[in-house]
Amino acid sequence: MTNHQLYLAPMEDVTDPAFRMLCKRYGADRVYTEFVNADALVRDIASTTRKLTIHDEERPVAIQIYGREPEAMADAARIVEQAHPDFIDINFGCPVKKVAGKGAGAGLLKDVPKMLEITRAVVNAVHTPVTAKTRLGWDENSLYLPDGTPFIVDLAERLQDCGIQELAIHGRTRSQMYRGEADWTLIGEVKNCPRIRIPIIGNGDVTTPERAKECFERYGVDAIMIGRATFGCPWLFAEMKGLPAPQTMTEKVAVLKEHVLAAIEWCGSDERKGIVHSRRHFAASPVFKGLADFKQTRIALLRAETLAEVFAIMDEIVAKWGANNE
Ligand SMILES: Cc1cc2nc3c(=O)[nH]c(=O)nc-3n(C[C@H](O)[C@H](O)[C@H](O)COP(=O)(O)O)c2cc1C
Repeated sequence: MTNHQLYLAPMEDVTDPAFRMLCKRYGADRVYTEFVNADALVRDIASTTRKLTIHDEERPVAIQIYGREPEAMADAARIVEQAHPDFIDINFGCPVKKVAGKGAGAGLLKDVPKMLEITRAVVNAVHTPVTAKTRLGWDENSLYLPDGTPFIVDLAERLQDCGIQELAIHGRTRSQMYRGEADWTLIGEVKNCPRIRIPIIGNGDVTTPERAKECFERYGVDAIMIGRATFGCPWLFAEMKGLPAPQTMTEKVAVLKEHVLAAIEWCGSDERKGIVHSRRHFAASPVFKGLADFKQTRIALLRAETLAEVFAIMDEIVAKWGANNE
């Protein structure tokens, strides 16, 4: 258990207002939007500006942007500021080809001067506190500078000098994508560097209350950011903090149902769209893990297209497996 700060990580197509609000209710100390493309914001593309939708109930909330040109990023930050987020976060960590391959996200780990230029441009463009999120380095060969200093320690100091207020570090390189285990020792080295004054947020593979506690104790980070472990489990923050959380399968399924309803609403009351959008949560939820002879029911749940079907299957799950899990 921990009483330290726990944040919901930014996740594309996952951290929409519906999910953020639930995580906030169950104890997330800060939530992030999914990354928002700077160029699309500047061009005023409706599907992108919609991603700036935030609600007072979810505060503090960070809106994350990504891009590869300082000017466009500064313009995007000014647009984002009009949505009044508590933080504007810059993505320097996305590893996927269509982003990093074009010199944005983690692609900037290969061009630190440009990364710093973007950071300064964004910081100077807005009054809102600017934060950043990055990875340990480009690949395993670039984890250390020639003098032996970890790349990420040096980078953290430079970003700090550009005026960011906090730095989140995912303990993987770009090459690792999401494979292998997150390396927290280098995150700890950043935190322990006497020149670093800004809060350091650790991220990567924190899935249980025990691991959260261990990461705070061992690495001394100021906050932990949690991503994938929240899928179908927005109450994870409460479990980590020892706050009231749903206990029984009945209670947990009730929260998942509430999430589907909120997702449908977020998808413009398009029932099918909201359900498809929720499938990632059904597929990964710990509520449906380890149930005996669950395969067919799981397939049905992941194929259902109407709310009536989804709710009926969920009720059936509680009736059939709930007693062993209450
Ligand atoms: C589906 C998915 C979407 C993601 N989208 C973003 C994003 O938009 N911005 C970002 O900074 N990181 C993004 N990430 C990375 C997460 O924020 C986080 O750094 C990563 O999942 C490691 O944390 P975890 O082990 O707790 O999941 C995404 C990760 C996943 C799995």
